[in-house]
Amino acid sequence: MRVLVTGGAGFIGSHLADRFLREGFQVRILDSLEHRVHPNGLPQYVPARAEFIHGDVTDRNVLLSALQGVDIVSHHAAYQDYMPDFSRFLQVNAVSTALLFELIVGQRLPVKKIIVASSQAVYGEGQYRCLDHGGFQPVPRSPHQLQRGDWEVLCPCCGGSAQPQPLEERSNNPYNQYAVSKLAQEKTALGLGWLHGIPTVALRYSITQGKRQSLYNHYSGVCRIFCTRALQHLPLALYEDGHQTRDFVHVEDVVEANMLVLEKDEANGEAFNVGSGRATTILEYAHHVLNRIPCPAGLDVSGEYRRGDNRHSVSSVEKLGHLGWTPKRGLDAILDDFLEWIESSGGIPARLPDAIADMRAAGVLLSATH
Ligand SMILES: NC(=O)c1ccc[n+]([C@@H]2O[C@H](COP(=O)([O-])OP(=O)(O)OC[C@H]3O[C@@H](n4cnc5c(N)ncnc54)[C@H](O)[C@@H]3O)[C@@H](O)[C@H]2O)c1
Repeated sequence: MRVLVTGGAGFIGSHLADRFLREGFQVRILDSLEHRVHPNGLPQYVPARAEFIHGDVTDRNVLLSALQGVDIVSHHAAYQDYMPDFSRFLQVNAVSTALLFELIVGQRLPVKKIIVASSQAVYGEGQYRCLDHGGFQPVPRSPHQLQRGDWEVLCPCCGGSAQPQPLEERSNNPYNQYAVSKLAQEKTALGLGWLHGIPTVALRYSITQGKRQSLYNHYSGVCRIFCTRALQHLPLALYEDGHQTRDFVHVEDVVEANMLVLEKDEANGEAFNVGSGRATTILEYAHHVLNRIPCPAGLDVSGEYRRGDNRHSVSSVEKLGHLGWTPKRGLDAILDDFLEWIESSGGIPARLPDAIADMRAAGVLLSATH
């Protein structure tokens, strides 16, 4: 059996490539080695036993050639960022998925299963409950509210407080360019998979962490940012007030989820959350990092916020749990692995892009005026 892993030089894709090789698959990787993720070119961890194609998933000829002789497609290439080049998100994430199906259907390629990497981002601001007015799906907090430093999502009926609910697969409510592109990708894949009889599954990952997360790109998240800043004795910058919640899942648990849905026919045609099911505030996360890496500069809660960020995002993992998956690794394992990865890569690179300055310049990172 041959599997094509798009984005297989990246963080999650490379762990999948390793696992597929261990399971006896022939592995082909298609990756454009995006400069923001891989400024030093092909990473050393990409297994020599995998066939590597340097190319873009949006290029028809390249994708068609990468699909020859393939049984399984694991579609993990994506454009992820906070920057305002909106059209690129749709182009890479959604159009590439439509092209994948166009080629498989048009050329009658005998692909047996497709797994696409979706995201928790599709939930947008998620699902909330007001004690007096019941459940609702909020619009994102308004620029006016955020400017006041008024961070929590409020009930649209009474303006009072509301409780975030675990995110369940039946809903979606995306607003920002990445989230919209991921939902478009997922709908394209599940819809065309169903209509053309190609077993397809979408996995909505929560924030995934572990070894091989790029130390360079803006999107690689809180673990990279906090750890690299603490190691440089710089203050850990927390957006908003640090009480926003997220759930963090270890990359090996994500790999297990992929292997499970590959095997299970019951998964076909469905989207599943892949997360920890556990809420962690960004403040708790920062303290967790500071317990590992003492940093005299401590925390910096400056009241800045990112346009398009959600307040609370914690996924329910019940649906995939019914198929037998459960997340096994927590924050300690994530930090152990990430710190080991920094060390084994020779420490923090001398020149890291200044994500905070770039986001300020692009109008993505803003200051509350309270
Ligand atoms: N890491 C997370 O927390 C997370 C959360 C939710 C969803 N996801 C999804 O999981 C997938 C993998 O994410 P990751 O964290 O491993 O990202 P990553 O940036 O480490 O890897 C993505 C890989 O795709 C490649 N790529 C980007 N554009 C490409 C293109 N046009 N053609 C070919 N290759 C291209 C990049 O060079 C990179 O190697 C993505 O689809 C992402 O949207 C990730």
